[in-house]
Amino acid sequence: MTLLVTGGAGFIGSNFVLDWLAGTDEPVVNLDVLTYAGNRQNLAAVDGDARHIFVHGDIGDFALVSKLLAEHQPRAVLHFAAESHVDRSIHGPEDFIQTNIVGTFRLLEAVRAYHGQLPETAQNAFRFLHVSTDEVYGSLGSDDPAFSESSRYAPNSPYAASKAASDHLVRAYRHTYGLPVLTSNCSNNYGPYQFPEKLIPLVIHHALAGRALPVYGDGLQVRDWLYVGDHCAALRRMLDAGRIGETYNVGGCNEKTNLEVVRTLCTLLDELRPRADGQSYAMQIDFVADRPGHDRRYAIDAGKLERELGWRPAESFETGIRRTVRWYLDHPDWVEQVTSGAYREWVGRHYGAAA
Ligand code: NAD
Ligand code: TYD
Repeated sequence: MTLLVTGGAGFIGSNFVLDWLAGTDEPVVNLDVLTYAGNRQNLAAVDGDARHIFVHGDIGDFALVSKLLAEHQPRAVLHFAAESHVDRSIHGPEDFIQTNIVGTFRLLEAVRAYHGQLPETAQNAFRFLHVSTDEVYGSLGSDDPAFSESSRYAPNSPYAASKAASDHLVRAYRHTYGLPVLTSNCSNNYGPYQFPEKLIPLVIHHALAGRALPVYGDGLQVRDWLYVGDHCAALRRMLDAGRIGETYNVGGCNEKTNLEVVRTLCTLLDELRPRADGQSYAMQIDFVADRPGHDRRYAIDAGKLERELGWRPAESFETGIRRTVRWYLDHPDWVEQVTSGAYREWVGRHYGAAA
């Protein structure tokens, strides 16, 4: 038995691979093209482990994916690979269309051909688990109920639109070809190995470097934060017992405004790594121009996952954010390595002189 994971050198994918190999002996084939967001160093703990087979390649490479499927005969594909940063999708949507839509389509085509020729028992046991986002549902007003699995799709950014398109393709492959698919729509993740372009690691990184902490607009946008290890646990439950063709919302029940998140990070850093001048990191907060089309609020109703599969997040925001800050403080080399020249150039372009 083997899993094929796509995008397993990224933030969530690498956490999934590490957790998986810590808990089972089932091997993982990890297909990742190593964009700026993919990092072999995330997987250093399983370097040389025969259960982890890393393959440098593109999900859109039909011949390569077909060869990997034929060679390793996985019982499931977990599809994490994507362009994942909203701000980058605003500056340049093309890569999002290519990877998230065209790449997912080509991957599905290869998986469909593979699945079609499996013996019946293997066909029935096979799963394609597509990892998606709550951003496909658009934006909530402050009094609206949280997103459920039947919320209307209303993606607002090029990123969200490309993920919505991939969700629709996955659904169509179930409906038309009978591919045994599952889709997860998850809220904002945080934790170790997150590239410091996303809010939480960016704020930690900028704070320690003495740089401005950029808060978009009024900072009162709301996100529902989920510790990455809890997301990985939800995916394992879905793989084990999720109903074929279903989608499951995954969320942390932790709605926070961005300003609350940034202030919490400042308070934790004040405690764990105080500034030399004794002042609070909060003095580095800088309100900057808002993101175009910025979604105001996301919130997830994860009741279906809890009722059907007994999943609940283990971390509260308070415990998860403390663990996360400690991890970044303990891993300055990782941060240094991923914030390469290309990253610095992006920060300069996106945030301007304030960065
Ligand atoms: P990430 O950007 O950290 O990692 C993406 C990984 O995919 C990288 O390793 C990258 O090299 C790889 N990749 C990109 N294009 C590829 C291609 N064409 N072929 C092979 N590999 C490719 O993203 P993440 O935060 O780990 O997100 C993983 C998945 O979870 C994505 O599908 C994302 O949409 C979804 N998601 C993320 C969040 C979040 O908060 N991070 C929330 C909900 C859903
Ligand atoms: P982000 O981590 O990019 O995730 P997403 O856009 O997928 O929700 O951003 C989280 C929130 O933080 C979002 O409302 C945008 C905001 N934000 C800032 O205020 N400043 C920043 O520098 C970044 C990167 C994000």
